[in-house]
Amino acid sequence: MHRIAVVPGSFDPVTLGHIDVIGRTAGIFDEVHVLVVHNPGKTALLPISQRVALLEQSIVEASLPGSIKVTSWSVGLLVDYCTEVGASVIVKGIRSQIDVAYETPMAIVNRNLAGVETVFLLPAPANAHVSSSLVRQVASLGGDVSPYVPKAVAEFLQKG
Ligand code: PNS
Repeated sequence: MHRIAVVPGSFDPVTLGHIDVIGRTAGIFDEVHVLVVHNPGKTALLPISQRVALLEQSIVEASLPGSIKVTSWSVGLLVDYCTEVGASVIVKGIRSQIDVAYETPMAIVNRNLAGVETVFLLPAPANAHVSSSLVRQVASLGGDVSPYVPKAVAEFLQKG
C-alpha cells in the first residue's frame, strides 16, 4: 500500500526542527506532502508563497530522502486536503508536553471528522527548543537566527 503522510503547519518560517521532522517522516512513509496552512490565530511574518519557496529550498539544501512535495491549503479543513490527495496520516513534531496538550484535541477532531490518524514524532533533542515564533522574534530584533533555521531562511531574513 502506498502511504501518503501530510506534515501541516504555519512554517512561518520553516525551522531546523521542521526539517528534522519532515526528514523523519520521509523515512517512514512512501510520499510526504508538506502543507502550508494559514493559522488565523497567529500574526504572519511571511506570505504563504514565500513560506512554500523557503520550504522547497530548505528541503533541497538538507538533501532529504524520498518523495516530498510542498504545497499550501487555504480553502477548508486540513482533513479535506488529506481526503482529496488520499493521505491517511497527519504527522506532527512534538517538542514537549505543551505540544502534546495543543495537538491532542486537533488529532482527535481530525480523526472524528475524516478517519485520518495523527502520528507524533520526536525531533532530535538539539531542535527541541526551536520554534518559528522564537525565530520571528529574534529576527525582528536584529538577532542571529542561523543556529535555528536552514541557510536559505537565514539568508532571506538577513536580506529583509
Ligand atoms: O504550525 P501551526 O500553526 O501550529 O499549525 C497549526 C495548523 C495550521 C496545522 C492547524 O491550525 C490546522 O490544522 N489548521 C487547519 C484548519 C483545520 O482543519 N482545523 C480543524 C481541525 S484542528
